Amino acid sequence: MARKKEILKLTGVNKCFGSIIVAKNINLAVISNQLHALIGPNGAGKTTLIKMISGELKPDEGVIMLLDRKVDHLSEIARVHLGCIRSFQVSSIIGSMTVFENVLLAVKQKRNILKMLFRKFQSNFSESNFVYQILNQLSLESIEKKIASNLSHGDKRKLELAMALAMGPKTLLLDEPFAGLDQAESSKLIQLLLSIKKNIPILLIEHDMRAVFALADKISVLNEGEIIESGSVEKIRRSKLVQNAYLGDDL
Ligand SMILES: Nc1ncnc2c1ncn2[C@@H]1O[C@H](COP(=O)(O)OP(=O)(O)OP(=O)(O)O)[C@@H](O)[C@H]1O
Ligand SMILES: [Mg+2]
Repeated sequence: MARKKEILKLTGVNKCFGSIIVAKNINLAVISNQLHALIGPNGAGKTTLIKMISGELKPDEGVIMLLDRKVDHLSEIARVHLGCIRSFQVSSIIGSMTVFENVLLAVKQKRNILKMLFRKFQSNFSESNFVYQILNQLSLESIEKKIASNLSHGDKRKLELAMALAMGPKTLLLDEPFAGLDQAESSKLIQLLLSIKKNIPILLIEHDMRAVFALADKISVLNEGEIIESGSVEKIRRSKLVQNAYLGDDL
């Protein structure tokens, strides 16, 4: 089996909003072929952490590494180019466009970034073929001509994932992709993420504990900006600290 590698690594990350501490000495790694779930109560600082990884927010202190490279000084765009791709807690789909067009737009965004960073960037790369490849992977090809706003909730989530994959991720940052899905849609998304994580390591923020327990190789629990527990699904299920802070009846 291939050696495990830290694709994304946070060391000693701190962040305050005024008097609120939203990140307190965060140490966390996302490993190749693994899904690392970040759970915790509302307002714990989960989305803020993803914003710091993607470059939307600056930590007050600490180091963020992507593929052994320090990215703290890099813009959001430069981090996307390196493969740090985030899907939003709030949807990024353009409702008036078709499924195909939305994914094509994501491919073009990535290529425009490359053009901006490297003026001489050229390629024979076939955008349409790449889009179809992704649509096939996510079983979206039969609805490629559908207008995105008419999609079911589950298909919208799949489309968001397709758009993230179109950006060529080295790691995926997913913020509550299971929110609002029914049981059947949620089961399909679990299967999809199980197959995606084999190639692309994932940092998953999620409140849906059925999904977290089915998918996670490692779980970190954030409470008031602090990781209060970290480990395997079994360890987290058993943890009294986690039960008190967050899980309660979900176990
Ligand atoms: N730009 C900001 N300025 C000031 N406070 C903020 C800002 N963004 C977030 N906060 C506060 O920081 C805390 C953490 O917010 P964050 O959105 O990271 O929580 P979360 O864990 O993602 O919660 P949820 O599960 O509800 O999505 C909250 O108290 C929030 O109100
Ligand atoms: Mg959030």
